[in-house]
Amino acid sequence: LVLILDFGSQYTHLITRRIRSLSVFSLCISGTSSLKAITDLNPQVVILSGGPHSVHACDSPSFASGFVEWAEANGVYVLGICYGLQLIVQRLGGVVEVGEKQEYGRMEIEVEKANGLYGTKRVGDRQVVWMSHGDEVAKLPQGFEVVARSQQGAVAAVENHSKRFYGLQYHPEVTHSPEGMETLRYFLFDVCGITANWKMENLLDEEINIIKETVGPDDHVICALSGGVDSTVAATLVHKAIGDRLHCVFVDNGLLRYKERERVMETFERDLHLPVTCVDAVDQFLSKLKGVTDPEVKRKIIGKEFISIFDSFGHDLELKIGKKPSYLVQGTLYPDVIESCPPPGSGKTHSHTIKSHHNVGGLPKDMKLKLIEPLKLLFKDEVRQLGKILNVPNAFLKRHPFPGPGLAVRVLGDVTEGNALEVLRQVDEIFIQSIKDAGLYDSIWQAFAVFLPIKSVGVQGDQRTHSHVVALRAVTSQDGMTADWFNFEHQFLDNVSRKICNSVRGVNRVVQDITSKPPSTIEWE
Ligand code: XMP
Repeated sequence: LVLILDFGSQYTHLITRRIRSLSVFSLCISGTSSLKAITDLNPQVVILSGGPHSVHACDSPSFASGFVEWAEANGVYVLGICYGLQLIVQRLGGVVEVGEKQEYGRMEIEVEKANGLYGTKRVGDRQVVWMSHGDEVAKLPQGFEVVARSQQGAVAAVENHSKRFYGLQYHPEVTHSPEGMETLRYFLFDVCGITANWKMENLLDEEINIIKETVGPDDHVICALSGGVDSTVAATLVHKAIGDRLHCVFVDNGLLRYKERERVMETFERDLHLPVTCVDAVDQFLSKLKGVTDPEVKRKIIGKEFISIFDSFGHDLELKIGKKPSYLVQGTLYPDVIESCPPPGSGKTHSHTIKSHHNVGGLPKDMKLKLIEPLKLLFKDEVRQLGKILNVPNAFLKRHPFPGPGLAVRVLGDVTEGNALEVLRQVDEIFIQSIKDAGLYDSIWQAFAVFLPIKSVGVQGDQRTHSHVVALRAVTSQDGMTADWFNFEHQFLDNVSRKICNSVRGVNRVVQDITSKPPSTIEWE
């Protein structure tokens, strides 16, 4: 295991992904975790991430006391990146100072020591890297050597090979450091001697074993299927582990897309052979959402209603099978966990609670069901790989993500106002169908329409209209954590816009959202 101690860098999750892409399992926990939390995981390598802090600030986060001694005594390799490097230097007796010149962005560095972190590179070799720091190393701790320097003369890489401590002032994990991946690869395999043996198949076996051990032989489990990739893969996996003691429920909360209930139920039965009960809860959800405009309140209400439905589904099941279900399966992913539960002390800006994803943040404290979250260590693309191994059909695996609160976060304001939901469904269907017809669906991470709570003046059939504005959003992304807007051809947009205004009553204006994440988020609420 390669353990990442997170000190709040926006790139921390990227380090985790990069290392997994080298077939090495990596996990990320808070940088201020206790020594026991670290040693319990028994890592061979610990990477200290970057972060927005200065080691000089009195409340700057640091690793647990005893960490250095434990790493040395157990032959654990430690690599500090950016702030992580500065922490190592400061905690081991060196000096970090506010740099005379700050280094942000593209920089060239030059190797000063051969046979070190850069393997076969020779003294004087140069490479471009991505820097982002104000403080710099002024004096190294005893036993450390400079391996590379920036063109401004600042320390760019250090090592103490006998102590197995290393540090990079720049970010090898970002693509703007073109040789960064090679440096990470060399460090893990050649310096630390790690074996590349982590495969999705291992994870599948491990998860199945964990579920078998957790769920007792008489226990029953319920799972809410949304028709999306995550819950479908999670249910298929749990079904593989415990068979028909898994009972799935699909909830029509009135916030689904066009004909979604019919389409999804048909595919579950035909392709997945999973036992699924469909619950019609349209009135229950919409009556609770009436008049609610605050996005966070909407999410909380929806999360609460879902749980109450699972409780009553469990109750009905008890009457049927004579036993209360004990567990609830959720398709929670790693980014949901990172975004909803900021690691204590990380000070992360992006991992402060940006949105309470209902499957993490909104669960009531007194919930009777225990949770099974077999995907909570995975990123979306990894879930798709896992689904492929489980023979989940492409129709599920390639579906664009759809948020748990559904169209409630795409109708801005009160979702029950007028016929907003119905209008949105029709607009969304035209947009998505046009994307499919143009062969673009698989090139886009997520596409959808948004219903805006404003009206604008238009002219349709020689008549003045005062109708709604809808927005179209399509983004590309690797994992939903960052995203860029998708650049459609003008002709495509023109066709879609005409089609919407000509066929959806109540809409006379179509706009396109051309913002990336950050600064926006993918959803509008
Ligand atoms: P944001 O809008 O936070 O979305 O940039 C990132 C990804 O997460 C999805 N999303 C949600 N998924 N419950 C979910 O299950 C939620 O409350 C939720 N909010 C956003 C969003 O569709 C995108 O894929």
